[in-house]
Amino acid sequence: MLVGRMRDMAKKKKSHYICQKCGMQQSKWEGRCSDCDTWGSFIEEIPGEDEISDKLKGHVISTKKSVGAGASLVSLDQKIEDLKIERFISGIHEVDRVLGGGLVEGSFLLIGGEPGIGKSTLLMQYAGALAKTGVDLFYISGEESIAQTGARAQRLGVFEKKVHVGSENNLAVILSIAREKKPQVLIIDSIQTLFLPELNSAPGTMTQIRECTGYLMTFAKSQKISVIIVGHVTKDGSIAGPKSLEHMVDTVLSFEGDVNYGFRLLRTLKNRFGATHELGIFQMEGCGLKEIHNPSEMFLGNCGKGATGSAVFATVEGTRPLLCEIQSLSNQTNMTLPRRTAVGIDLNRLALLIAVIGRHLKVHFNDADVFVNVAGGLKINETAADLPVVASLLSTFLDIPIDAKVMFFGEIGLTGEVRSVSFADMRIREALKLGFGKFVVPISAKKIFEELEISAEDVHFIEHIKELLDILKML
Ligand code: TYD
Ligand code: MG
Repeated sequence: MLVGRMRDMAKKKKSHYICQKCGMQQSKWEGRCSDCDTWGSFIEEIPGEDEISDKLKGHVISTKKSVGAGASLVSLDQKIEDLKIERFISGIHEVDRVLGGGLVEGSFLLIGGEPGIGKSTLLMQYAGALAKTGVDLFYISGEESIAQTGARAQRLGVFEKKVHVGSENNLAVILSIAREKKPQVLIIDSIQTLFLPELNSAPGTMTQIRECTGYLMTFAKSQKISVIIVGHVTKDGSIAGPKSLEHMVDTVLSFEGDVNYGFRLLRTLKNRFGATHELGIFQMEGCGLKEIHNPSEMFLGNCGKGATGSAVFATVEGTRPLLCEIQSLSNQTNMTLPRRTAVGIDLNRLALLIAVIGRHLKVHFNDADVFVNVAGGLKINETAADLPVVASLLSTFLDIPIDAKVMFFGEIGLTGEVRSVSFADMRIREALKLGFGKFVVPISAKKIFEELEISAEDVHFIEHIKELLDILKML
């Protein structure tokens, strides 16, 4: 009897527990994932690979087979045009540029973002723009009914015959329709709502997301259909089950923005067909998303008057320069541990710069709170922002106003030297375009100014941070 029961248990499929954040598998439930340290992220899932029904097997596995059968080797000494990749250009420049010049035929794209940020809106507008250029599209929503998707599309001004909207969660059904009708682009909103009925896990779990993504990828490559999937992002900023998806797809875009600001940023996190760190900027309006063609003006906001604690910096996002305003505020405090807050720049970098100022300029923030903010919600990862950060810190602490028409850039080393930065010419040109007449830049930028023939009075070349105080007083 006991032996019989044990045999039954052995036959029964053993479930396992999967961390929904990093995909770590355990045979027992754990409160905290030992891999990524997340609490309460384990969910019981039942392995399903071998449970896929014959019907689905025939459908999906054949897709995989055709990839294997069609695989061939190409020697690089043949004409390179034969290997050329085809792109769909939508005419929405911000999206096309972020994709590296258009959506590649047969590529697999993941667009992530928080719920409500505007992913569905963006993709519907993108679908409309692509259809205008003659591309056949499917827009399948697992979240909204056909009526909802259709009504939204028409509200956004998308009335294209070539856009077909559908509402479906079952991946097998979606794939068979797409395989039969052969659209050029298949948009699926969202991956978390998809499921393969043969897997026992619920939609949105790691197993479902991973399997569905795997099948979609094979499908995209074998059928030469570009597939775009939407992935909702969890609170901590990772696309649900994310790391395991990112390596499967060709391109990862993230759509972000602050709900307080009307604008949205479309970033390239990974792109097999173009540069990463590209940035597309949109404004959410009553009738959908509008492209912002001159973002510098938007990020500078109304910093036209010049103030203490404000310095303008030209950052480079991907291939585009962007002017932004770095603001600092410093107040005396009686707390033993003064506050250091950085929004939009790295907090460790701020600590380093405060230490450099203390050492080389003898300006000490020991009993002062320091807050640094990049206006407009922009995030800056460049060390080229060191000089404007230091300038804004000195300005607020010593109460020296900075003229609003001054632009700063330069990296600061621990010894206090101001080092050259990349794309200096791009930054300077952008500032000139927007009417900036004064510059505080590393000495290495001298060549560029000679080439551009700008009057030298307005330009201060700086070699060491010690010179900065005098320069600020002169401006
Ligand atoms: P949505 O595309 O549904 O977000 P997601 O797919 O990322 O979850 O966008 C929803 C938000 O966008 C909603 O809060 C309302 C706003 N919105 C506008 O402001 N204007 C519009 O024209 C549309 C369609 C949406
Ligand atoms: Mg949506």
